[in-house]
Parts: sequence; structure tokens; C-alpha cells
Amino acid sequence: QKHLLGIKYLQLSDIELIFSTADEFLEVIRRPIKKVPSLRDKTIANIFFENSTRTKLSFELAEKRLSADVINFSASGSSVSKGETLVDTVNNILAMKVDMVVMRHPNPGAAHFLATQVNATIINAGDGAHEHPTQALLDAYSIRQKFGNNLKGLRIAIIGDILHSRVALSNIFCLKMLGAEVRLCGPATLIPRYIDQLGVEISYDLMETLRWCDVANFLRVQHERMDVKYFPTLREYIMQYGLNSQLLQKLNKPITILHPGPINRGVELTSQVADGEHSIILQQVENGVAIRMAVLYLLAGTRE
Ligand code: CP
Repeated sequence: QKHLLGIKYLQLSDIELIFSTADEFLEVIRRPIKKVPSLRDKTIANIFFENSTRTKLSFELAEKRLSADVINFSASGSSVSKGETLVDTVNNILAMKVDMVVMRHPNPGAAHFLATQVNATIINAGDGAHEHPTQALLDAYSIRQKFGNNLKGLRIAIIGDILHSRVALSNIFCLKMLGAEVRLCGPATLIPRYIDQLGVEISYDLMETLRWCDVANFLRVQHERMDVKYFPTLREYIMQYGLNSQLLQKLNKPITILHPGPINRGVELTSQVADGEHSIILQQVENGVAIRMAVLYLLAGTRE
């Protein structure tokens, strides 16, 4: 593969190769000397047209751990505000002899479009409400780390604002390819109608879903993309879909809790749950660096 545009374009063998490569890089980043020279002849541009903390910083760190040269571009403060197009922007960056581009963009399909227009490896760091492939890889990798190598038959619920999420679609593709059973749960207004064609169950009942699942991935309520017609009131959302420790106690069984971040504390999860014993949210973040190192290394084609 030349690009990573979405999980949709990967095979199971690609995912397994990324995971086994990430296993090695996880050991590297836990060492006192966290760097390897694999990409020392590569230059990578991280271009972000939308805000990010985890994805942007972990790509940058992954690139630096692999000894690549790194430049960072944010649309705010750039010549995009003067009307420069995406393709012109990226072609000007590539003229500075950049080899790979990591891009986050608010428009679904932007990474795919860019890959057809410019001559560089493109990695999708999130395109609108479409895909976020490295997030899905790090989520599945974190679940695999907790449950052993095999996700076959594991029951995984994706809970919350599915409609505006790029994490949901990538997670569905990835988890199903790995053999997990996937269920979506949230308010009907936040679950798109087409999604049941992807072989997932749908539930509107949080407690029933929690009883069913081994793993629950809670998605952020995306206030910034929300229109009033989609949303129960925040108070209703918290009452029906927010997880707190009383609910967890009522369940009387352990479930593993993920969240891609950023968390709306007190909305999707209370702090007690987000920081509690069942949460693997910070392991997801640590694994994100190893997964992104693996993706960059494999796409750069410099296997040693
Ligand atoms: N999970 C995720 O994409 O977080 P950021 O928006 O902070 O990168």
C-alpha cells in the first residue's frame, strides 16, 4: 500500500502486520533510549485543518522516534486564510522535498482526494465524519493487549454520537475484520440509518448494551457539529447514555472502557469511570504512538 486512507481499504493481513510491527515499537518507546534510525532520510509534514491534541502530537512523536525530519502545518495562521487551495498548499509543501503527508481535514473524502492529486504518501488523520484509521487501529490494538491476541467473538459496543463520528466507521470496519461482534448504542437521532448495512447490531438501551458487551468504546458528543434536531438535551443524554459508577456497580460484571478523547467529563463518562480501574483510555494513548510508528515505518517501505 502507498497510502493509509481508511480501514476500508485494508486487508486482515495488513492489520496483523501493523500490530506485529507496533509490538516491536512499543518495546522501543518504553526503553530509556526511545529512538530508532528507520526514517532518518524521510521528511514528513503533519497538516491539520482541524484541531487535535492526541493524533497530532502522537504522529509528531512517532515521526521523531523514527528519526524523521518533521514539519507541522496548521490551517489557522497559514495562507489558507488568503484562499489558497488544499492541493496548492500541499504541492508547495511537497516542493520543499517532503516524502509523506499526515492530514486531518473536516471534509469526508479529503484524504482520498488529496491522494489522487499529489505525488506523496498520504495518511488520513481523520476526515470529517468519515474515517480515522489510526484511531481504530490503536483501539483494536489496545483491546487485543487486554484480551490476548484474538478478538474473535468478543462483544464490543460503540456508544454515543455515532452520526458525527469518524472513529465509529473505522472501528466497525476494523473490529469486524478481526472477528469481533459489534453493537452500536445511542439516541436514534445520533445513529445514521445506513449503518445497519455494515453488519452491526443497533440498540437504544445503554444498560442492556452494557450487559451484553465485554468492551464499551464511548464516543464524544460532538457539540461543535451538533444541530438541535439531532440531540436529546444534554441532561437527557447524560441520564440515558452517560456511564457512572452506580451503573457499573449495578452491572455486577467487569467491562473494559475505551474513549478516543477528548472526553466530555460528566457527559459520556463521569471522572470516576474515566479514571477508574476498568478504563484503558491512557493505554490507548500510549499505544497510539506505537501504532503510528508502525504505519509510518511500513508505508515508508524501509523495512530493516
Ligand atoms: N482521538 C483523537 O482523534 O483525538 P484528537 O482530536 O485530540 O486528535
